[in-house]
Amino acid sequence: MAQLTVLQEPDPRLRLPTVDVEQFDQDIAEHLENMLETMYAHDGVGLAAPQVNLRQRLVVMDVGDGPIKLVNPTITEQSEDRSVTKEGCLSVPEYQARVRRCSDVRVRYYDETGANHERTFSGLAATCIQHEIDHLHGILFIDHLSSFERSLVRKKLKKVAKSG
Ligand code: NI
Repeated sequence: MAQLTVLQEPDPRLRLPTVDVEQFDQDIAEHLENMLETMYAHDGVGLAAPQVNLRQRLVVMDVGDGPIKLVNPTITEQSEDRSVTKEGCLSVPEYQARVRRCSDVRVRYYDETGANHERTFSGLAATCIQHEIDHLHGILFIDHLSSFERSLVRKKLKKVAKSG
């Protein structure tokens, strides 16, 4: 296993499109393992492929009840109820903000062996999976904020880049 470099906003590679995995081979299994290792090393609860410069539809997460690897995840149903949760992102260092999302989502995905799964995520897991699926579409959580809040984020990111 190996730790991967996490890209940070405003890296344009975070915005590139991803493609469906069609072959469930050893490469996919290794990418998912490396993504989990990288996520845990940074105390994250979720990580999506574009954050580590991979172009496939891969997500890993662990909101406290064990690791989940999701290949080609798709939301099939979503609740009308919304929840507001404070989010952060390994690609947007030292910044957290409240984001409004669906309280429950049903997600269809494959595991690393190619087996098909469908399950409902609630609470923090629902927030996390929506955040990660956004990444697969080149969307960051800060894109959901008002333009005023986003301008504050940009200033802060510049400061972090200077001091780092
Ligand atoms: Ni993120």
